[in-house]
Amino acid sequence: MSFQVALNFEDGITRFVRCRPDETVAEASYKARVNIPLDCRDGACGTCKSLCESGSYDGGDYIDEALTDDEAASGYCLPCQMTPESDLVLRIPSSSAAAKTAAATHTATLTGIERHSATTVEFTLDVDDRQALDFLPGQYVNITVPGTDQSRSYSFSSGPSQRQISFLVRIVDGGAMSRYLTERARVGDRLDFTGPMGSFYLRALTRPALLLAGGTGLAPLLSMLERLAQEAPKHPVHLIYGVTTDEDLVHLDTLQDYAEVIPGFTFDHCVADPSSTARNKGFVTGLMDAGTLHDGSADVYLCGPPAMVEAVRGHITGLGVNPASFHYEKFTPAAVRATAEAA
Ligand code: FES
Repeated sequence: MSFQVALNFEDGITRFVRCRPDETVAEASYKARVNIPLDCRDGACGTCKSLCESGSYDGGDYIDEALTDDEAASGYCLPCQMTPESDLVLRIPSSSAAAKTAAATHTATLTGIERHSATTVEFTLDVDDRQALDFLPGQYVNITVPGTDQSRSYSFSSGPSQRQISFLVRIVDGGAMSRYLTERARVGDRLDFTGPMGSFYLRALTRPALLLAGGTGLAPLLSMLERLAQEAPKHPVHLIYGVTTDEDLVHLDTLQDYAEVIPGFTFDHCVADPSSTARNKGFVTGLMDAGTLHDGSADVYLCGPPAMVEAVRGHITGLGVNPASFHYEKFTPAAVRATAEAA
């Protein structure tokens, strides 16, 4: 028996190692050739101190100079001492290069291209070594555009346990991936990608959550919902999905399906175009009040273009509500992740 431990490095790269309940996270990491920061290996120096964002563990033996009670209560831990009691997600205080590791490269076969509308395409890949690809719901990979030396970043729209992986792409004029998908892509094509990456991922759901999607920013939230469909959360989850025009709207049927299987999951959508046939016209902020934020007790996850991220931040400030946590990812039309932060 072993648990999955996700090691998230400061440069956004994530490596996964398997760790038995009777070995420390540091031992398992080094066995997998991931050299997380270590010095004393004895719970005395604090060099390995990391933040555990999800999961339960036995913290082991250490002295106060290495980890204070307050730090332990805030989720900090010592990988050289801790043993897992469940799957874990740790933030490691070093770059992946310093730990002598890097994002993994995978090769896959294109198995499906679905043109949802003139603006949005979804494609599906069958990964050669699927069992070696772990990721957290919300993360992304860098995909090399076939026939070019360019790569683009896309969040998984599929869940971590689904056999095939999928991605949503907004079609932009002249975009490298847009041109490939609309002009040259054929089922059976081979693609390479590296990852997973990013700190925008679903944490353990210990409070209500508000998910906010702008356009194809829906993709990582679909991946999160797939995970929640398996976990049956005890807290309400509400999603607000905003797009520019009616033809940008995708996966409303998928959201409805999730509403039927995830207890406490509800969603709403809005379209900015005044001529839209949608019930709600305008932006996601028009559907956000103190109630949707549970008066500050909700975790907020937002993926959308930079202007949307800033508008939502300003709106939340204007409501005078301070969410329990605010995780966001900004993306540009070229699908290059500018940031992936939690604030
Ligand atoms: Fe010194 Fe972990 S390496 S406390």
